[in-house]
Amino acid sequence: MSTDYLASPRFPRTSRYHPEWIRSSVSGGANSLWLTEWLTEAMDLRPEMRVLDLGCGRGASSVFLSREFGVQVWATDLWFSADERLQRLHDAGVGDSVFPIHADARALPFAADFFDAIVSIDSYFYYGTDDLYLNYLARFVKPEGQIGIAGAGLAQEIDGPVPEHLQEWWEPSLACLHSAEWWQRHWERSTIAHVELADAMTDGWKHWLEWQHTVAPDNSVEIDALTADSGRYLGYVRAIARRRPGVSLDEPISSIPVAYTKQSLYRV
Ligand SMILES: C[S@@+](CC[C@H](N)C(=O)[O-])C[C@H]1O[C@@H](n2cnc3c(N)ncnc32)[C@H](O)[C@@H]1O
Repeated sequence: MSTDYLASPRFPRTSRYHPEWIRSSVSGGANSLWLTEWLTEAMDLRPEMRVLDLGCGRGASSVFLSREFGVQVWATDLWFSADERLQRLHDAGVGDSVFPIHADARALPFAADFFDAIVSIDSYFYYGTDDLYLNYLARFVKPEGQIGIAGAGLAQEIDGPVPEHLQEWWEPSLACLHSAEWWQRHWERSTIAHVELADAMTDGWKHWLEWQHTVAPDNSVEIDALTADSGRYLGYVRAIARRRPGVSLDEPISSIPVAYTKQSLYRV
């Protein structure tokens, strides 16, 4: 089979990877290598850094991070098997530098300040829209370390009803999709991190559509929605923030010790 497809001058690093390898590691609706390449163009990753790849799915982005930047990666995901991921990491030659972890992003098994950077590809919106989540996550990255997210998002917020041309495709869980401006505000108001960048991918909807045509050509509902929308709402967004030094983070509360005091229930 020709290996020309999915080769794109926009994504020179990704274009070196075999398209069948990329397809065999699909774990969501996007090409995770395109998104990782786009995000990391604006991140400061150096060899030997410790990176959390949060919501890494089947681990293609973690392989990419390790091979392209020489970083160590904790490839962490909830829905997909860490065992299958381990085989992919081993075969990709990164078994010694990428570590598959099965964990919930809301209950991470890591020490405070452990990571130099955190990356999350097409996943953060599942848990990160909670106002308090950045406070929780930021404790795992060193002060001044970067947190970067990239994934499906909106060119503009949908404030009223879902636009008619998107209604057939839309489902309630898509309420978690937001614009780059929304993420910037969401993170800045936490005061925990300084947002260095929040933007939308140029022609992101066209890349989304190209990917759908390649991996899911029968998904006419999504293809029709993207085509009708033509980038008015749908696209890819990214945001990169740096943990502010000197801001003390709340410790996660797992229990509050209390002692029972017996009292009369009613006034007598
Ligand atoms: C759309 S998939 C994207 C996977 C991969 N990053 C990619 O781009 O192909 C969303 C991922 O988010 C992960 N995810 C969702 N909720 C999560 C949570 N609470 N903790 C950890 N991962 C979560 C899922 O396990 C899933 O792999």
